[in-house]
Amino acid sequence: MKKLCVIGAGAAGLAAAKNGLKLNCDVTVFEQSNAVGGTWVYTDEIGKDKYGLDVHSSMYKGLHTNLPKEIMSFPDFPIPYQEKSYILAEDMLAYLNLYADNFKLKEKIKFEHHVVRVRPLIDDTWEVLVRDLKIEKYLIYNFDLIFICNGHYHTPIIPFYEGKNFFKGKILHSHDYRCPDPFENETVLIIGAGPSGMDLANEISKKATRVTLSHHLPEPPKTQFKTNVDLKPDVVKLTEDGAAFADGTLNTFSVVFYCTGYKYTFPFLSFDSGITCDDNFVRPLYKHCININRPTLAFIGLPFYVCATQMFDLQARFCLTFMTDKKKIPSKTEMIEDSEKEMNKRWSKGFKKHQAHLMGCDQGKYYEDLSKTAEIEPLKPVIAKLHNFSSLRFLDDLTNFRQDIFRIIDDETFIKVQ
Ligand SMILES: Cc1cc2nc3c(=O)[nH]c(=O)nc-3n(C[C@H](O)[C@H](O)[C@H](O)COP(=O)(O)OP(=O)(O)OC[C@H]3O[C@@H](n4cnc5c(N)ncnc54)[C@H](O)[C@@H]3O)c2cc1C
Ligand SMILES: *[C@@H]1O[C@H](CO)[C@@H](O)[C@H](O)[C@H]1NC(C)=O
Ligand SMILES: *[C@@H]1O[C@H](CO)[C@@H](O)[C@H](O)[C@H]1NC(C)=O
Repeated sequence: MKKLCVIGAGAAGLAAAKNGLKLNCDVTVFEQSNAVGGTWVYTDEIGKDKYGLDVHSSMYKGLHTNLPKEIMSFPDFPIPYQEKSYILAEDMLAYLNLYADNFKLKEKIKFEHHVVRVRPLIDDTWEVLVRDLKIEKYLIYNFDLIFICNGHYHTPIIPFYEGKNFFKGKILHSHDYRCPDPFENETVLIIGAGPSGMDLANEISKKATRVTLSHHLPEPPKTQFKTNVDLKPDVVKLTEDGAAFADGTLNTFSVVFYCTGYKYTFPFLSFDSGITCDDNFVRPLYKHCININRPTLAFIGLPFYVCATQMFDLQARFCLTFMTDKKKIPSKTEMIEDSEKEMNKRWSKGFKKHQAHLMGCDQGKYYEDLSKTAEIEPLKPVIAKLHNFSSLRFLDDLTNFRQDIFRIIDDETFIKVQ
């Protein structure tokens, strides 16, 4: 019986725990908060929590999902029926609790346990140093297998701009956004037009006097924003009371709001774990999840622009197939070759380093590769198809796409009923 450690009880950790139990592993999950759900747990807190740890969740009030619920469930456990496809964050959190209860996962979770350090021992097992937050004690555990499921929407990326220290207004990151109220009567510069930048420009414009969205998308978003929103190219510098843009224009702002994304960080991972991470590129990994240097440690959930929960389950089953010796893991040389081939394909398509784990249009192929390689149950092709369709709707019609209603008809087909 393998001793399996899961770090984090968000959706990825739950998938890892559930599949570990199914394969008769002795599972222990460490979760620093007092709840399951990770990102989906809303908190008013920003900055540090009561234990001095960085607040993890970036969830804000009233968030509706940006993907239809039809592709947001685990593959074997649908989200309970409701008419709408785009559901509230609370509903997603309730679903994750239902899943945890259904598979009796909570009894395997040590809540308010913060993983401080993970390091390999001489016999190829792992030592995990954990801080029990409630009794303020450090404990040492030993495991055969490690699943890292700590999420990657918690540590802000704050870009550097010339003049940043002179700017006299407020500077915020979307990680600390909770509701639009503080933006009443403000003039707001939003930097970054990813999913959060687009969504928050929309939200903040309901309260702010005016909003400028600075982006470097190849084509400006087609979204119909409110009339108090304008688009600008990249910021070249900040000034005392505003910003200068790449098109040579200047404007004044009272708030600079970064929607510049998040950093992948694994602060607990020791140097000799064999993993490095820079600019959101984690390596060396086999199929974006297994540590090639020490294949008893794996990451669940690194790829982005995916059907997260579906993929977490698939990745967990993929890793466990090899980690519990149901199937022999390829040699180190084979895994390195596979990984280099995969990465070279990405670089030749023009991907930047920070896009090392971006899936988007390629996700269907990735899912197929995982299930074929490990000879496990595949994801239904309709999942990636509906992701592709709904993502395009998000880009085309930000104001209305959440009214869309989808139904899945069979493994290959979905319909848009509204
Ligand atoms: C604002 C926002 C909106 C989103 N909307 C959507 C959406 O509509 N649809 C969608 O599919 N995805 C959405 N996502 C992405 C979402 O984060 C993923 O779908 C998924 O929930 C991530 O799950 P996870 O388990 O990988 O990470 P998380 O949910 O972040 O969970 C990680 C867990 O690990 C714990 N942890 C971290 N470090 C430690 C440690 N050292 N010791 C112990 N515990 C630790 C944390 O407390 C947390 O509970 C959104 C993300 C954000 C930020
Ligand atoms: C915003 O401006 C309006 C009109 O000037 C004023 O009535 C209101 O109190 C202001 N709100 C805040 C939060 O300053
Ligand atoms: C995504 O959808 C677009 C438009 O419907 C289509 O042209 C494209 O082929 C799709 N891509 C994939 C990978 O399914």
